[in-house]
Amino acid sequence: MTTSAACDIRVVPDARTLARAAADLFIECARAAVTARGRFDVALSGGSTPRALYVLLANDQTLRDAVPWSNVHLYWGDERHVAPHHPDSNYRMVREAMLDHIPIPDENVHAMPADLDDADAVAMAYQRELERCFAGLLPRFDLVLLGLGADGHTASLFPNSAGVLETRRWVCANWIEKLAAYRITLTAPVLNAGRLKLFLVAGADKAAAVERVLQGPRDVMLTPAQLIEAGAGQVIWLLDAAAAPVPDGTRSHG
Ligand code: 6PG
Repeated sequence: MTTSAACDIRVVPDARTLARAAADLFIECARAAVTARGRFDVALSGGSTPRALYVLLANDQTLRDAVPWSNVHLYWGDERHVAPHHPDSNYRMVREAMLDHIPIPDENVHAMPADLDDADAVAMAYQRELERCFAGLLPRFDLVLLGLGADGHTASLFPNSAGVLETRRWVCANWIEKLAAYRITLTAPVLNAGRLKLFLVAGADKAAAVERVLQGPRDVMLTPAQLIEAGAGQVIWLLDAAAAPVPDGTRSHG
């Protein structure tokens, strides 16, 4: 694994080792949070790259047993505006990849009520759930898992979507023009309040977006992942070699 001093960028050879490195960080974070505060609050991400972490945590017995699941609380960083059994549901993806295989109490799983007809109602209901879980204070997740889209989106903060500029609400219903659909997403203030924001990015198709986020001019409307900052916490980019930025002039543009 190579790291970069400027920003905490950790490059591993491939997607498999990325999932394992993410699992090790998940466990390290969980143990530290439970020791310090008796609980581990995690905002999960959708996407195939984060999914590989969930599958590993659920299926590798050593890793599964290393997580203090009874003290873990799972939330969703974003969700599609669909029912929980819908193929596009992030809740369904996490349930099938992990929840069905780990000993986590049902009351520790805080899914978005994404089957409510009105997307705004989903967002408001989830804001109330966060207010309940965090005693009305701005949620400070111990770990915020994030993917990165090839267009530079993260969570469901997509380029040129209104949610990118939302700074008052913790959760918003974000209309995504190119999807012609609403997504419900945590907003930048909540994501950035997290102690550790961990990007999981694999694949050559993400390399240009990674380079734009980390080395391009700041333009959060064009590249919403640039919203994510360390603040009082930390940002780690966990990348496989294919997605990692390369020194100028050495990437083959075949
Ligand atoms: C979602 C995610 C989204 C995802 C990225 C990366 O709901 O789909 O929240 O932000 O993490 O699109 O997804 P992949 O890892 O599958 O490329």
